[in-house]
Amino acid sequence: MKFSEYVFLFVLFSSIGWILEVIFRSFNAKTFVNPGFLKGPYLPIYGTGAFILTICATHLEGSSLLVKGLIYLFVTTGLEFITGFIFDGCLHTPLWDYSKQRFRIKNYVCLQFSIYWLILAFTFEYLVLPMYLSVFNLLNPVTVDIFAIVVFGVMFADWTVRCAGIIWEKKEKRRLTSDNHESEFMNIAGPLIGHPAIQRLRDFGHHRDKTRLDHSVEVAWHSFLLSKRLSLDCNATVKGALLHDLFFYDWLREGPRLHGFRHPRISLENARKVTTLSKKEEDIIIKHMWPITIIPPRYPESWVVCFVDTYCTVKDYVTVNRRKRLEF
Ligand SMILES: [Fe+2]
Ligand SMILES: [Fe+2]
Repeated sequence: MKFSEYVFLFVLFSSIGWILEVIFRSFNAKTFVNPGFLKGPYLPIYGTGAFILTICATHLEGSSLLVKGLIYLFVTTGLEFITGFIFDGCLHTPLWDYSKQRFRIKNYVCLQFSIYWLILAFTFEYLVLPMYLSVFNLLNPVTVDIFAIVVFGVMFADWTVRCAGIIWEKKEKRRLTSDNHESEFMNIAGPLIGHPAIQRLRDFGHHRDKTRLDHSVEVAWHSFLLSKRLSLDCNATVKGALLHDLFFYDWLREGPRLHGFRHPRISLENARKVTTLSKKEEDIIIKHMWPITIIPPRYPESWVVCFVDTYCTVKDYVTVNRRKRLEF
């Protein structure tokens, strides 16, 4: 077969597949259902299936029915699985759902429909393909080429518009989620950040060019996001993180000896003067320097703040050092 014959075959069977699916799904739903990802009257999975089966039928001429059956089963089910994986697993836009079927793999393929595809594959080889080839030979080659190219172009444009739509929807969803997170964070952190004792942290440098308030808010924000993802107690996390470095001296020039070891206790005593603290919030503050303060954190929220505090500290120094190197 020539290239244009394959294109025509792909386009034609995409449309025939769409008609079959419309009949099957509309009959089951008792209302008109436009199946598939694209807006137009075609389902590329059927066109792709017809294309692959035609190649298989050409190469398997003379093979036994058993060999053909196994290959058809593998090819059609494989195509359905890959399509299901791309649309459901990657694009989160499931095109079908086999969750109510028995003997299935991840809702993408199931035994019952794989048997249908096998029957369709044999029907395709012995009935549909010979008919298609005999009709195709009667058609004007130029008309066939123009028809195939135009419909293929329309399908491609349809595909591009749908993909762009999905990407835009996902971006918009992410933006809305991020806005929601910010307002939730500010609901918890806002009253504490406005407290005069926390505002005093603005007067102390902490890591290179960052004030202690910058650092505390940064640790609280990242701890909040991580706690959210892990379904932990966000209130306690944010509160503990905001208060974890609540001490009022320049730790590089003054303050107690063994600052690293002692400042969690000092911060906890100061935090108690600012607000009432739960056991968990106290644990977050007192254990945030682990392993320097030997006893490990007791709550997952304390582990989160301890980890995020270390991460932010390392990031501050690495970023500044890199910036300095670039300046030279
Ligand atoms: Fe600290
Ligand atoms: Fe810190």
